[in-house]
Amino acid sequence: MKPIRKAVFPVAGLGTRFLPATKAIPKEMLPIVDRPLIQYAVDEAREAGIEQMIFVTGRGKSAIEDHFDIAFELEKTMAERGKSLEVLEPTRLGPGNCAYVRQQEPLGLGHAIWCARDIVGDEPFAIFLPDEFMVGSPGCMKQMVEAYNRLGGNVISVLEVPHEAVSSYGVIAPGQSEGDTTEVLGLVEKPRVEDAPSNLIISGRYILQPEVMRTLESQEKGAGGEIQLTDAMARMIGTQPFHAVTFAGKRYDCGSKAGYVQANLAIALEREDMGEEIRAFALDLLK
Ligand code: G1P
Repeated sequence: MKPIRKAVFPVAGLGTRFLPATKAIPKEMLPIVDRPLIQYAVDEAREAGIEQMIFVTGRGKSAIEDHFDIAFELEKTMAERGKSLEVLEPTRLGPGNCAYVRQQEPLGLGHAIWCARDIVGDEPFAIFLPDEFMVGSPGCMKQMVEAYNRLGGNVISVLEVPHEAVSSYGVIAPGQSEGDTTEVLGLVEKPRVEDAPSNLIISGRYILQPEVMRTLESQEKGAGGEIQLTDAMARMIGTQPFHAVTFAGKRYDCGSKAGYVQANLAIALEREDMGEEIRAFALDLLK
């Protein structure tokens, strides 16, 4: 079984839900306390043993490239002032550890992934949707890689949502379950509530075989008039093993404002350097 060495981060989206905050900065750079969302996703990938990060970007996203680069002036000044550079350590992605490719038109998630086909090449790879902020130990992707090492094929993360919420997501038709893994028998993107095969939704983490790129190539538009990753995956079911992993941790939907605020509060409360202060403040505020 080939190891998962590469991860694709589709980060070309416009982030209109967070305007005006995202007028001049990418939504993936919005911080949870003091780390941008995209940094958490990259850290989760590293923890899972992934070495190369492939960012599918667009116009106006250069802050992401700057973030993972060496900030020469900043580092020199900090060093001269005797300040520790440790905080910047996770932001350094060397030339062998990152690649950037542009999605020139907003044709959908499937199309964004397809834009990375040459860099991914002929090996299985991971996908992270950074809006979906997954918190746990082990991280979501590490848990998925463990499942992949047992089962091979394709592995996606799923979670349960209230039935009436399924229409915003990709939904699986579940088969047999064993521990944290469930066989995937079908996939449908943004179904009507009455047509949804379950309330288990795809939660933004994938391990896919390279054949998905070929499937995407010939693909027609799906839900919302976009080229959907879910449709390409659905076409692979039956030709390759396909499993879902239920993540044993917390998930925050940072594509929504409420989810983003919740994530900030939850992480702040967990932090050693400020947890107590924030807890006292929150209790006082709610009195
Ligand atoms: C995308 C995927 C969907 C998945 C969701 C998770 O949808 O197409 O299958 O459930 O992310 O956030 P989007 O949020 O881009 O509409």
